[in-house]
Amino acid sequence: MASRPPGTITVNDGLDLLAEFMGCKEEVEELTNKAMDGVMPLNTSLEERLNLINCSPSDLRAFLKAHPPASRLAPGVRELIRTLQKRGVDIYLISGGFREILIPIASYLGIPMSRVFANRMNWQWDDETGEPTKLVGFDVSQLTAHNQGKPQAIARIRESNPYTTVVMVGDGITDLEAVQVSGGADLFIGYGGVVARPAVAEQAEWYTCDYSSLVFALSCYKVAVIGSGAWACAATRMIAQNTVGQGETASEFADEVRIWARSQHEAINETGENPVHFPGISLGPNVRAVASVEEAVADADLLVFCMPHQYVQRVCKQLLGKVKPGAKAISLTKGMRVTREGPQLISQMVRRSLGIDCCVLMGANIAEDVGAEQVSEAVIGYSDLASGEVFAKLFERPYFRVSLLPDPMGAELCGTLKNIVALGAGMVDGLDLGPNSKAAIIRQGLKEMRGFAKALFPSAVRDDTFLESCGVGDLVATCIGGRNRRVAEEWTRAALSGSPRSWSDLETDLLKGQKLQGVSTSNEVQEVLAARNWEQRFPLFTTINRIVNGHLPPSSVLDYKEGSRAPLVEEEEPLVLP
Ligand code: NAD
Ligand code: 13P
Repeated sequence: MASRPPGTITVNDGLDLLAEFMGCKEEVEELTNKAMDGVMPLNTSLEERLNLINCSPSDLRAFLKAHPPASRLAPGVRELIRTLQKRGVDIYLISGGFREILIPIASYLGIPMSRVFANRMNWQWDDETGEPTKLVGFDVSQLTAHNQGKPQAIARIRESNPYTTVVMVGDGITDLEAVQVSGGADLFIGYGGVVARPAVAEQAEWYTCDYSSLVFALSCYKVAVIGSGAWACAATRMIAQNTVGQGETASEFADEVRIWARSQHEAINETGENPVHFPGISLGPNVRAVASVEEAVADADLLVFCMPHQYVQRVCKQLLGKVKPGAKAISLTKGMRVTREGPQLISQMVRRSLGIDCCVLMGANIAEDVGAEQVSEAVIGYSDLASGEVFAKLFERPYFRVSLLPDPMGAELCGTLKNIVALGAGMVDGLDLGPNSKAAIIRQGLKEMRGFAKALFPSAVRDDTFLESCGVGDLVATCIGGRNRRVAEEWTRAALSGSPRSWSDLETDLLKGQKLQGVSTSNEVQEVLAARNWEQRFPLFTTINRIVNGHLPPSSVLDYKEGSRAPLVEEEEPLVLP
């Protein structure tokens, strides 16, 4: 990577600062501006500026002492260069400034002098002492003394190094020249953190005012998974497969994946498996389980939230002030919360309570099937593309196909709402009805999922989201094979047999520690529908909620239009107590 110092590496032009130190700031600035405005050739302006500055070697030493490198660097540039160096990237400085002023900065940044392209001052030497005494202009033979010097310097670097990619980072129009000539750089990144030039921002392929966004895109991320249920374990296994064997130096992800397991941490660390939630499937040698959620997130750059939705808020409160600044999150949780202000998605809760970006991963992902490496698809819904891309690399496996979707709210609402429809599908199975009836539930369910998501977030939710894995894909999978479907089938059979069982009893009995999300989600969504008088607009959701709460028999599920219109008497005796 090549970079141009003033405005890119430093917050000020070295020569202007030296002029200020020597008491000729205004005159030198005038000459600098003449060169910038193109009314004076670069080399003439440099010559005249040096004449005005007229410093001695001891002046220069005093100047460098008064302005140590750390006081001059642009915010975040040292961290960026360190991150790149850790990944084995060679860094060059190409500057129209002077080598004599740049030397301490290059050495502070760990850049060898052989990789600094800059102008050189000419000195008059004392024949007797052999020491420089007086500044007498500069070496006009250097590439950087002339216009087009930067692309020529890059061409020279390429001549002696077989680099496949050279990236130029700069803040000026002359830096952009690096990509505009053959043999120059392959990519230009514009930086506007010190001087923002609209023309550079417009033409740069990548533009930033904050180096931390580049650091984020390059970091060796530490990953923490918050939750240890079946899906959390399947997700951890995929992540661990992607990070295993990656060293600390040249990779994007740290090798170790930390997983917060409240009660199974010892078993996971001893056997490599979660014997309760994901038995028989090894999570990976690079997975370490911890008992405390604070320990799991300490130092982590990427937080994967995957736990039943009813616990997320409490965990977020516990994590307040404990999360690394700049960390990014992704939520795999399917569910929502209803507050006095209205519905709140889990990703919104994470974002608001922890102050960090939060993507979502949603799709047709029955945990055990993903654990068995059966081909599955998912989407990552993102607001920030850079975060979405990092998480896509973290999850993508040959058997787990991830696509990016710029509709995080639509994707998350799909994952949440399909759990209600899955209850309806389970009721159809409990009624011993066949595929035609289940298809009717799935079709109406999809329609209401889309209607509800668009009614809540009309300008954000996209129609095509419902055709993705998070939409129709997850709906089909969950209505065939999910736990909500399974428990609803048993609940329906028990109700029809005259020996009704409660949802919580069946959850404990059938799911062995896993949590049923559909019933609570149905109640939460119904609160939103009732508050907005939308019950008849969403007849299937309403009817399923009435069945779940014992106000209608399970057989009403296919008569959802009538079901949603049936008057609800306040003290109405439930048909089947949940
Ligand atoms: P789960 O539903 O099996 O629940 C078990 C988890 O809940 C364990 O991590 C347990 O530690 C945690 N838990 C229990 N009581 C808790 C408490 N009081 N406080 C905090 N945590 C507690 O977990 P899962 O299967 O990993 O599902 C997590 C989320 O992912 C859910 O929203 C689910 O809808 C979604 N999801 C599940 C699957 C799947 O196939 N299982 C697939 C996709 C999405
Ligand atoms: P259940 O929670 O109904 O098992 O669904 C799992 C899931 O979300 C599959 O994508």
